Amino acid sequence: MNGRVARVYSLLADRVDVIVLLNGVEPNLDLSFFWIGDLVQGGLFERSAALAWPDGKLEILTTPLEEPLARKGRDATITIFATQDEKRELLASRLKGARTIGVNGDEVSYAAIEQLKAIAPGAKLVDVSKAVADARVRKDKGELERMQKAADIASQVAREIPSLIKPGMREYELGAEINYRMQKLGASGPSFSSIIAFGPNSAEGHYATGDAVLKPGQFVLCDFGAAYQHYASDITRTWVFGKPSKEQQDIYDTVRRAQEAALALMKPGAHGRAIHQAADGVIAASAWKGRFTHGTGHSLGLSVHDSNTALLNGRSDLVLEEGMVLTVEPGIYLPELGGVRIEDDVVVTKDGIRLLTNAPKEFRSIA
Ligand code: GLY
Ligand code: MN
Repeated sequence: MNGRVARVYSLLADRVDVIVLLNGVEPNLDLSFFWIGDLVQGGLFERSAALAWPDGKLEILTTPLEEPLARKGRDATITIFATQDEKRELLASRLKGARTIGVNGDEVSYAAIEQLKAIAPGAKLVDVSKAVADARVRKDKGELERMQKAADIASQVAREIPSLIKPGMREYELGAEINYRMQKLGASGPSFSSIIAFGPNSAEGHYATGDAVLKPGQFVLCDFGAAYQHYASDITRTWVFGKPSKEQQDIYDTVRRAQEAALALMKPGAHGRAIHQAADGVIAASAWKGRFTHGTGHSLGLSVHDSNTALLNGRSDLVLEEGMVLTVEPGIYLPELGGVRIEDDVVVTKDGIRLLTNAPKEFRSIA
């Protein structure tokens, strides 16, 4: 009996006879495949499949290449196939008689769905991606331990950044140092492409680290995270290089207050929309009204944006539950001057929250 399989079935709106998770070839891998089998010690598991049954049983179909890693997963029968023909035969035998098959529409490729239709021509395919995503949103003890480690790595590197910043350095040089230090602390790599932005570039939310040279008086915004056993952290800190202006300090203080306002509301039962409105309200009441241009936060887990519905924004229907992990990341962005964002990762506890990231966030200029 696999508890995660049982959780998905408990959240299903429609009855299905079996759920099939199908991996393509990297990068078209289904993160829910890795989640359901707790397959987090490595491995690509290309073209592998997971079969999850209503009685809680899980079977992983994979290749000899991945067999040792598959055996490190949890509560699953492992079946090895040598060729894709063999995999098709295994799937056909398992799916014989199934009238409705659940598929993870959010993460499966069109080609894999076509293959499944050919293997089980009589079956109706039902998209169960909402139940899968909702099951993934609350983290268990093992997931939280991995996420704490990923957050500890990112926090430690954030603490080191002021000592790494040098006059004349380029964004990509600082980015390389950050990634290197995360790996030295045990990360398997960055959890997403680090956003290292100097000056006006920091006004772009999803800036791609470039070759800008650091100049005195500029903001230095670093948004990065560590991947640890497949789980992500996501932190942002912003500093000023050299002497800050009064405006820079005021922007920073406003973002800090916006983050505090959001954090203060977070506990089980709190509404994602209200949390966003609390942060947005602080900025809307300041001189930078309208300069907070994204949502306050997102779910975090195997992926840095772990769910497309568990969000803290103005349209959110999310109601917080114990075990959810969310980022809280308000920002103010001014195209010519640049932007400030402060981001932390938070787990919802029985009666409040616990911060996973803990790097200092007092306003600081770097001499
Ligand atoms: N860390 C990037 C983002 O949350 O979009
Ligand atoms: Mn984020």
